Amino acid sequence: MIHTRNIVVLPAEVEVAFNEGQNLFQILNRAGFPLAHDCAGKGICGKCKFRLHSGLPRPSAVDLEFLTKQEIDDQIHLACAFKPDDGDIVELFSGDLKATPQDEVIGLTFPVDRWPGVETSELALAIDLGTTNVVGYLLDANNGAIINAISIPNSQSMYGSDVMSRLAYASHKGREAVLNLQRLALNDIERLAMALNTNKIPIRRVVGVMNSAMATFVIASNPDDLGRHPCESGIDGPVSQKPFNNKKGVLEKAELIIPPVIGGYVGSDALSALYAVLESNPPAPFALLDIGTNTEVLLVTDNAKAACSAPAGPSFEGYGISHGMRAVDGAIERVTISGGAFSCQVIGKSAPKGIAGSGLFSLFAELIRAGGLDKFGSIVPENLSPEMYRSGEKSLELVIAPGVTVDGVDIQQFMVAKAATRAGLETLLDHLGVKPEQLRKIYFAGAFVQRVEPQDLLAIGLTPDVESSRICNVGNAACAGSAMMAVSREAFVTACSMAGKIEHLPLSGNAYFNMSFQDHVRF
Ligand code: FES
Repeated sequence: MIHTRNIVVLPAEVEVAFNEGQNLFQILNRAGFPLAHDCAGKGICGKCKFRLHSGLPRPSAVDLEFLTKQEIDDQIHLACAFKPDDGDIVELFSGDLKATPQDEVIGLTFPVDRWPGVETSELALAIDLGTTNVVGYLLDANNGAIINAISIPNSQSMYGSDVMSRLAYASHKGREAVLNLQRLALNDIERLAMALNTNKIPIRRVVGVMNSAMATFVIASNPDDLGRHPCESGIDGPVSQKPFNNKKGVLEKAELIIPPVIGGYVGSDALSALYAVLESNPPAPFALLDIGTNTEVLLVTDNAKAACSAPAGPSFEGYGISHGMRAVDGAIERVTISGGAFSCQVIGKSAPKGIAGSGLFSLFAELIRAGGLDKFGSIVPENLSPEMYRSGEKSLELVIAPGVTVDGVDIQQFMVAKAATRAGLETLLDHLGVKPEQLRKIYFAGAFVQRVEPQDLLAIGLTPDVESSRICNVGNAACAGSAMMAVSREAFVTACSMAGKIEHLPLSGNAYFNMSFQDHVRF
C-alpha cells in the first residue's frame, strides 16, 4: 500500500504531497517546481541543490561527492539523492539561469517608421516574459536585425509553475510578496539583457510582452482582482516605466514598455503574436494558438476577433513530467518509432537526459499511429515491443531512452493540457459561429513549436481535423511582435489600437468550454 506524505516547499510555503519512496527531484518535478539540473535526476551533475530546514543533515553519498563541507554544514543536499520524510521543509533556490539560444525568427517585417530619436548603432530589446521561460531578442534599433536571441527560465517558478499559484502567493502574503515577484521579473530581464548584450552597449528601449498576471507582477499592481472573478487585471492601456534607473548596467536608462493586455489572463503576448501574424495578411477565418503554460487562443474572422486563455499547465514545455526538461543540451526533441524501438533526436551531442515538450508531442503522436496508446491514454503493450515499456511503480511506463521514462501520470498531464487548449479553440469557434472546416489557417506559436510537425498536432487532437497544409508553425510570434514594436513606433501604435477590438471570452464557468474539455481528455 502506498502512503501519501507531505513536504513544505519554501519560499512559496506550499505543501506538496508525495508517495513514500520517491526522491525529492521526482516529487518537485511532478509538482511543477523546477530544479537546476543537467542530468534529469541521475545523480551525476551535482546541480539539484536545495536546503533542508527540518531535522539533522543527512548527506548521501552523492552529496558527499558533489557538495563542499560548508554546503553540507549548511544543510544543502542534492534533491535526486534525497528521500524526504513526512513533514520535511525544503527551500529551493532561484532557477537555473543558463541561457538557451533561440531559433531564428523567420519572416519578421518592420513598418518603415522608427521610434523618434533613434541613434546610429542603437540597440533595442524585445522580451517575451512567459510563465515558464523568458525569451529575449537583442535588435538593431535601426534596421530590426536580430543580433542575439536567448531564453532563460522564469525565476518566479519557485513560487509555483503556473500563474494561479503565484497570484495566490501574492494575495496571501501581501505587498512584500508582490514586490518580490516584481524584483524577480525585473532581475530576469536584466540578466537577459546582460547575457544578450555582451558589448555592454546601453539600451534605451525594452518592449516586454507577457500575460496579464506577469504584467501585474512587473508593475507590482494589486493581484487580487486578477485572482478572483471576473479575473480582470485592471491594466487597460500600455504601460511605460523606467524600473532599472536605480541600478548600474545596460538598462540603467531604459524605458520598459508593456503593450496593453487583451482581457482576463490574455495579455500583451497574445496581442503581440496576433500583430506579428497579421503582418503577413493571412486569410480569414484563422486561429492562432500561442502554446505555453497559459495557452492563448485567438480566432479572427472577417469582422470579429476573439481570444481566450486556456489553462494548459506547464507539461507542453516539458515541466511537471517525470523526466521532462527544457529544450537544452541532452533533451530529446523528437521521438520516432522504427523497427519496434524508440528512436530519439537529441539536442546537442550528449546522451539523452530527459524529454522536452516537442519530444512529448512526437512521442504521443507516434504511439497513437502505432496503436501503442489507446484513446484514454493507456499504454497498449500488445502493440509495442517489450523493450519499449516496463512495469512502473503504479502502472506501465514507456522507456524512451536509458533513464528517460514516461508514465501514466505524465500522459494524463499532457492529455489535460491538450484538452484545455482544444476546448479553448472549440469554444471560440462556437462563439463566433465558425465551423472547424472553415478555418483557412491554424497558426501555432511558441518557442518550441517550430520543432513540432503539423501531422503530430493533428494526431494528438490538438486541432480539429483539417488538412495538414492549413497548419502553420510560426515560432515565437509573441517575441517577433515584440521585436517589431521595439523597433517601430508604428507597429507599437497599431498593436495597441488593436487590443480594444479583440473580444475576451472568459472560460471560467463557461459551460461549452467545460463540456468540450471533457470531450477532449482523450486522444
Ligand atoms: S545530480 Fe543531476 S539532477 Fe541531481
